[in-house]
Amino acid sequence: MLAQELIRKKRDGLSLTSSELDWFVKRLTSGYISEGQAAAFAMATYFNGMSLEERVAFTMSMRDSGEVIDWQSTGPIIDKHSTGGIGDNVSLLLAPALAACGGYVPMVSGRGLGHTGGTLDKFDSIPGYNTQPDLDTFKRAVKSTGCAIVGQTPKVAPADKILYSIRDVTATVESIDLITASILSKKLSANLDALVLDIKCGNGAFMTSHRDAKTLAESLVSVSNLLGCKTIALLTDMNEPLASSVGNSLEVMNAVEFLSGKKRDQRLFNVVCSLGAELLVLMDLVENRSSGFAKIKNSFDSGSSAEIFSKMIAVLGGPSNFLDKASSILPRATIVEDVYAPQSGTVSAVDTRSLGISVVELGGGRRTVKDKIDYSVGFDNLLSIGDKADKNIPIGRIHANDWEKFEEAKSRMIRAYKIDDQKIKKCDLIIDYVK
Ligand code: URA
Repeated sequence: MLAQELIRKKRDGLSLTSSELDWFVKRLTSGYISEGQAAAFAMATYFNGMSLEERVAFTMSMRDSGEVIDWQSTGPIIDKHSTGGIGDNVSLLLAPALAACGGYVPMVSGRGLGHTGGTLDKFDSIPGYNTQPDLDTFKRAVKSTGCAIVGQTPKVAPADKILYSIRDVTATVESIDLITASILSKKLSANLDALVLDIKCGNGAFMTSHRDAKTLAESLVSVSNLLGCKTIALLTDMNEPLASSVGNSLEVMNAVEFLSGKKRDQRLFNVVCSLGAELLVLMDLVENRSSGFAKIKNSFDSGSSAEIFSKMIAVLGGPSNFLDKASSILPRATIVEDVYAPQSGTVSAVDTRSLGISVVELGGGRRTVKDKIDYSVGFDNLLSIGDKADKNIPIGRIHANDWEKFEEAKSRMIRAYKIDDQKIKKCDLIIDYVK
């Protein structure tokens, strides 16, 4: 086979066979395919797309370019994936809750992307916690604790690592076919029995429209199911931050308060329980969605999720007393100030993307791949759509380590919050289901 002939077929809108796609992925992984050829293939795919059969074959080859974990009959192996949002610390809560309900959750997570936060960066804010354990340590942690949240090792889907870095610099990230193969090749390397997808939709999400979010959800759900993993997607609202805290250590703190029952943001609670309920139904661990929701809720109320979260932190090298001492263990910013709106009224809209960018500007995200993150910065006590704001009720609180950056974040926050006397129409939190 010749790489240029496969690229020519895709360029001309023809379908590639599974053996052609497998040949391409194997040679991409070995370095035989040049960056130029990979970029041309990505661009041809971007314009001409792939059939469902091609997407399934391509995803399978990408998954098999690395190690696929053999769990040796551990129990139901389940996971969730989110397309990324603001104030979205669902993984920190859902992984231990699912473990408390009888699942095993080997959660391979990513770093922040663009204006959205990443689960891995949140865990890196916990001193001692090892987000890059070797495969044996990862497997042992999942088996002994029920869940482990870690980063991608070089052995997981190496073909995706190569192709993603080329897509990133050739304007070919936004291809539903390539996104599907990229996300699922990594997730399915954990040999999952079931997967729930949280496809964010709204002004803080990568997919702002319902139509685009649904197209992506349908592609992911059909490919994943055809590869033997029971999968369902929820389209959830991202027209405001999901929780009242945004930023790495602040979101960890928010999760600690949630788990210990001190404070539970309602929207976050509903998304966590709804996603968990779907997985419990898929694995026949409950009869229906409402008993699944109740079971996840009970794992929080009884403290069993909190116990598992604590154990996971300790097993992966973090402090053993983390849940009790989180506020003194997590990095803290030197400037912590409330921000008030110039006028009183009700929050009628939030520019969620702008809040995400503001956290990056404060130092809580990366502008270049090599940037070091300031884990302590961000926002907490953020108001939600429908809340009142006035001279006594701040829109939120900024955590910063530099006065100039604080002032920038303050003016962005004031611009991001629309406060007026309009009648509020709050979006549905769970917008759609794709089975
Ligand atoms: N996240 C991924 O892992 N891959 C993509 O292609 C896009 C988002």
